[in-house]
Amino acid sequence: MANKLILRALEGETLPVPPIWMMRQAGRYLPEYRATRAQAGDFLSLCYTPDLAAEVTLQPIRRYGFDAAILFADILLIPDALGMDLWFVTGEGPRLSTITSESDFNTLKPADAIHDKLAPVYETVRILSRELPEETTLIGFAGAPWTVATYMIAGRGTPDQGPAHALKAENRALFQAVIDRLTEATITYLSAQIDAGAEVVKIFDSWAGSLKGQDFDDFALEPAKRIIAALKQKHPDIPVIAFPREAGERYEGFAKATGADCVALDNSVDAAWAAVHVQKDGCVQGNLASSHMVTGGQALVDETRRIVDAFSKGPHIFNLGHGITPDADPENVQLMIDTVRSHR
Ligand code: CP3
Repeated sequence: MANKLILRALEGETLPVPPIWMMRQAGRYLPEYRATRAQAGDFLSLCYTPDLAAEVTLQPIRRYGFDAAILFADILLIPDALGMDLWFVTGEGPRLSTITSESDFNTLKPADAIHDKLAPVYETVRILSRELPEETTLIGFAGAPWTVATYMIAGRGTPDQGPAHALKAENRALFQAVIDRLTEATITYLSAQIDAGAEVVKIFDSWAGSLKGQDFDDFALEPAKRIIAALKQKHPDIPVIAFPREAGERYEGFAKATGADCVALDNSVDAAWAAVHVQKDGCVQGNLASSHMVTGGQALVDETRRIVDAFSKGPHIFNLGHGITPDADPENVQLMIDTVRSHR
């Protein structure tokens, strides 16, 4: 346990070489993922079939020896478990039934009813905690309430989260009720992942950047703080990584305000700025632009080295600024890893 590099970085240790993993490391850029995905039939069946979900989680560990594995699942399994309809349209993304009125909200199940649907996810975690190499850290995750709510309100991904912002303006009480139900469900879900063997949990707030001013406090900061406080009460030794993507200057102070052990940085934040303003409070994760996994070459090497150097005086976990994309070249991933591990 004590010798897992990711856990050491999360405890605040400055390591000579940062440990590394990659958002969406199990994904369509890998031929072995595409083969298992085809075997499963569709994306949700892959998420809900423990042997196959464990298999795709392990694939990037076998190929690259990353320091962490992230549970293969999706942030939208929570709305599914709360009783909404969820399906994925190939080439387009997720579709859901929508919550736009009190009567829609009243069809949602209570937070503690999610286990019925999510039991296979906990089984995936149990398989992984048996099968991962002893030096590899197992990360569980959930979406943050705001980000998940944007999909539940719009019924799909949206470029500007317009429908969620509109509901927030028009019916604050209903919007708050959605956030509260998601906050409770997220606590329940992450606790169950930890009970099953997750050693770290990460909260993905992919659309945090569209919350401004007081909204950021109320709907990005406050739910994260509630989730982390509840988890720390039950599982004080489990580190939490928060990812308020595109939070910009609001990255500063986010760890202190929420109790997160680490904040994940997207690549719109300059590493030199973040080293001064964010890493002063603890571990940071990030933040190479995922486009380098497509383009590769000397630019990838130079930018990787710049990031490693910028964060070298404090605790750091190397990662991308966002998920790797399907058009990435698996060889560029190897080049990034070799560059991180051979630098200095
Ligand atoms: O990081 C990992 O490898 C773990 C698994 C994981 C997935 N999604 C698998 C996935 C994680 C952590 C997520 C998080 C997720 N899912 C987020 C937050 C992080 C982010 O990327 O901003 C969001 C917003 C979602 C919702 C979601 N899931 C969308 C919008 C899509 C469609 C877009 C796309 O890339 O096709 C998904 C599908 C999805 N989730 C895929 C994977 C590997 C691709 C599905 C496929 O195989 O066809």
